[in-house]
Amino acid sequence: MEKPQYNIAIVRSFIHWSLLWGVVSIVVGILISFQLIIPELNLSPYFTYGRLRPLHTNAGIFGWAIGTFFALFLYMVQRLCRRPLWSDKLARFQLWLFNLTIVAAAVTLLLGFTQSKEYHELEWPIDLMVVVLWVVFSINIVMTIVKRNEEQMYVSLWFMLASVVGVAILYLVNSAAVPVSLFKSYSAYAGANDANVQWWYGHNAVAMVLTAPPLAVFYYFLPKSTGVPIFSHRLSIVAFWSLIFMYLWTGAHHLLWTPIPDWIQTMAMAFSIMLIAPSWGSVVNGYLSMNGQWRQMRENYLVKFLILGITFYGLQTLQGPLQAVRTFSAFIHYTDWVPGHVHMGTLGWVSLVLFAAIYYLAPRMYGTELYSIPMANMHFWLVLVGQLLYSVSMWIAGVQQAGMWHAIGPDGSLTYTFMESLVSVYPYYWARAFSGIIYIAGVLLFVANLVLTVRKGKTRDTTAAPGAVGAA
Ligand code: HEM
Ligand code: HEM
Repeated sequence: MEKPQYNIAIVRSFIHWSLLWGVVSIVVGILISFQLIIPELNLSPYFTYGRLRPLHTNAGIFGWAIGTFFALFLYMVQRLCRRPLWSDKLARFQLWLFNLTIVAAAVTLLLGFTQSKEYHELEWPIDLMVVVLWVVFSINIVMTIVKRNEEQMYVSLWFMLASVVGVAILYLVNSAAVPVSLFKSYSAYAGANDANVQWWYGHNAVAMVLTAPPLAVFYYFLPKSTGVPIFSHRLSIVAFWSLIFMYLWTGAHHLLWTPIPDWIQTMAMAFSIMLIAPSWGSVVNGYLSMNGQWRQMRENYLVKFLILGITFYGLQTLQGPLQAVRTFSAFIHYTDWVPGHVHMGTLGWVSLVLFAAIYYLAPRMYGTELYSIPMANMHFWLVLVGQLLYSVSMWIAGVQQAGMWHAIGPDGSLTYTFMESLVSVYPYYWARAFSGIIYIAGVLLFVANLVLTVRKGKTRDTTAAPGAVGAA
């Protein structure tokens, strides 16, 4: 049978842009880390912590993570369906709309326009851009799957579909708002209902953006990198359906001890604990796929990224349910423990898996071998050490803060003022800022490796022109 002409050019373009947004996100992350220790670095009004923080999270989640997922979904869907993309033109339109949306997001956030909902800050005109972007993307993915030449639906396709459908529903429901001017709108929901919808969205954004897509990537690129199939397809499918079913009920674990109804909090807590099983279904499947192959941890740099990535996912999905227990939440909520959790997921799980996938694609995108494997190994160690230092310092800071806030004297008065607790965590804030520098050193090495790969190699002729398609 003739090999289908896959579109690799669009994959390459998405990766180039997502790398740019990733670097922007990390630079801003480092800047806000320093702002928390050196207030003079807040340059009013545009470059204050309050405006830069959402820029950091939006660039990280939407620019780096989603941008790379766009690339990898467009890559995987063609191969798993054994056919080219349903529409190359739609994919190219998606690329430019994606970049336009990120730029519009960055500018409006710096100008101070915001809906004040975390991970949903963008005002309604940009919401509309996001909706068009997602519809265009969804049509292309779904139609490619519908018209596939491969009967079997590999588990990555299921995770991709869940993400495509899930994000659409979440975004539309949480976007319901009444615009009062070009850049101001008010949520359609009020008070506790608003909070409940917002965190149903917020936590499922974790599910549909920071869990399902990296799992799709992991399930595809682990066997590709090791050369052996995954341990169990059945386990992967069972883990998929149970994960998707359970995630949807857990959002209220962000609102424990708040005025939302008690039963909703209890349900969120119960489902969060149950989530350990489907999450670990994938972790165990990943580990068992390495049976007889563990030597590849030493010999194959791609495997190191992927296995450490799934290990952080495993740790993240033990820590998360613990945080969802009322008593534990009472201790760590509002403390720096939570950013420690978040960055084990974003810098550890998500980014490590994405780095592996991009390395795997580099020779296919540029038609030549990777410039330097020692550089890739160095990248691995720098981001690993950076991520660990970030999370561990935040966990210690969080426990210390919680301890100080809860300390009371015999007469019931607080032992420490809030200011005392803040000053006491400064050393950990320094450690976090330093960890960011280590992490970005690794990422810059990664980018340099890719640039040198391009310089050294010759891009395949069939894919050189923008929008061109070629077998890869
Ligand atoms: C079984 C899976 C998980 C559970 C039950 C869980 C649970 C939780 C809980 C309870 C919180 C709130 C902490 C607080 O503010 O008191 C939280 C925060 C968060 N988690 Fe997880 N987590 C899980 C997995 C993940 C994964 C895989 C990621 C990927 C990066 C992630 C990213 C986040 C983020 C971004 C927040 C911060 C939300 C905010 O802005 O407040 N979580 N998680
Ligand atoms: C090493 C690089 C990074 C540094 C130094 C950094 C630093 C920070 C800082 C200082 C905060 C604010 C914490 C607070 O409000 O107390 C933050 C929040 C956050 N960052 Fe990063 N970040 C980095 C990379 C990333 C990346 C790559 C992503 C996404 C892929 C990301 C996602 C987030 C999220 C979701 C939050 C909100 C956490 C919460 O609400 O608890 N970060 N980051």
